Amino acid sequence: MSTAALSFHGQSLELPVITGTENEVGIDIARLRGTSGAITLDPGYGNTGSCKSAITYIDGEAGILRYRGYAIEELAAGASFVEVVHLLVYGVLPGAEELQQFQDSLTIHTLLHEDMKKFYEGFPPSAKPMSVLSAMVASLSTYYESNDDINIIRLLAKLKTIAAFSYKKSIGQPFVYPRNDLDFVSDFLHMMFAVPSEEYLVNSVVRDTLDMLLILHADHEQNCSTSTVRMVGSSGADLFSTISTGISALSGPLHGGANTAVINMLEVIKKDGANYAKYIAKAKDRNDPFRLMGFGHRVYKNFDPRARLIKQAADRVLDQLGLTDPLLDIAKNLERVALEDEYFIERKLYPNLDFYSGIVYRAIGLPTSMFTVLFALGRLPGWIAHFREMRNSRDRLHRPRQLYTGPEHRPFVAIEHR
Ligand code: SDX
Repeated sequence: MSTAALSFHGQSLELPVITGTENEVGIDIARLRGTSGAITLDPGYGNTGSCKSAITYIDGEAGILRYRGYAIEELAAGASFVEVVHLLVYGVLPGAEELQQFQDSLTIHTLLHEDMKKFYEGFPPSAKPMSVLSAMVASLSTYYESNDDINIIRLLAKLKTIAAFSYKKSIGQPFVYPRNDLDFVSDFLHMMFAVPSEEYLVNSVVRDTLDMLLILHADHEQNCSTSTVRMVGSSGADLFSTISTGISALSGPLHGGANTAVINMLEVIKKDGANYAKYIAKAKDRNDPFRLMGFGHRVYKNFDPRARLIKQAADRVLDQLGLTDPLLDIAKNLERVALEDEYFIERKLYPNLDFYSGIVYRAIGLPTSMFTVLFALGRLPGWIAHFREMRNSRDRLHRPRQLYTGPEHRPFVAIEHR
């Protein structure tokens, strides 16, 4: 076992060094406080590993992303989202028969309990879809208290129904029930866009594009929402309550909410005469809260491989559907100008998966209000895979330490003497 030497305050400690599959190196500080009295401090955990995991590997410098060892580019080109769900959650790509059984098990669990429809009546039409999603997922734990395995199937099957129902609620249309004769993605599209008065036929380009986008969003190791799931799950909270917190974490504009923020940003730049230089300057100005949404990443210091694939999908799907979107041209020009600018080059800021995803969602007819919900639909298998891994490896309760910087001990003074 190799070690790392740490010396301070006249002490010298040998800390174990652990090496991962791809030769990443971790210094094990599990016994640091017990042997030295000191803790480490790493706001935002940029240098801290919270666990060992066998699910996803990212090399941020090389722009590599693999689910269970398979390259994201190969999965996006050759697998279906349901295959990838099985891969992430259970660790293996299913064979044809196993895949059909898995798909069938999802199909028979897509309905919500009829009483759960009443919950939607309490939400205002303007309710944020991510808030509805989080609330509805948490409420599943009031209906299903059995063991986690069947609940994994229930949640994988029901989230798209919950999402589609929240969209229908937001536009005042009647809910469309899931159909057992449709595949996973087609069923979601049908629930989203079918209306009682006419038949909705799923467009294969739209379906295939959404299937690929869900794959690209399916997992990303210890991102903010997945780490939230592992932390909350470590307390023993049930699957539904835990995933509900992951949805809430994802909703933030610095995380999953960025795909919506990118479209809003591109619309502003379009209205402002596509004045790229102005917005690049604003993004660089420390005193200006404006950030180039969809740019930058805690891990990728090279191109986000998903962004490359989504950018290609944007061109492809607009062409196949015979559409144009001025926002795509603006996004491409913004990327070009930014990547020629020293500020972005120096900080290794590249487009992340949120930069182009909204343009593809728009092209296939999905409403901006649902973009982050779509991110959650894609990320669900990743959250569940980490929940299972954390439970199976019996991770300790997550409980970080802190450095206290508040007032020293002082005597209490009763209010009459203050
Ligand atoms: C996702 O973790 C994951 O894996 C997440 C995700 C996943 O699949 O789960 O990949 C999905 O969340 C993608 C990220 C979506 N968010 C955005 O696009 C929001 C815009 N991006 C930034 O807010 C930022 O880049 C973050 C939040 C993504 C990362 O922030 P970090 O790692 O904390 O980096 P930082 O804020 O410390 O930035 C380092 C420097 C700073 O400048 P200096 O202080 O060194 O001068 O880069 C600058 C930042 O100001 N910077 C930006 C910028 N992002 C970083 N400047 C302008 N525009 C930006 N977008």
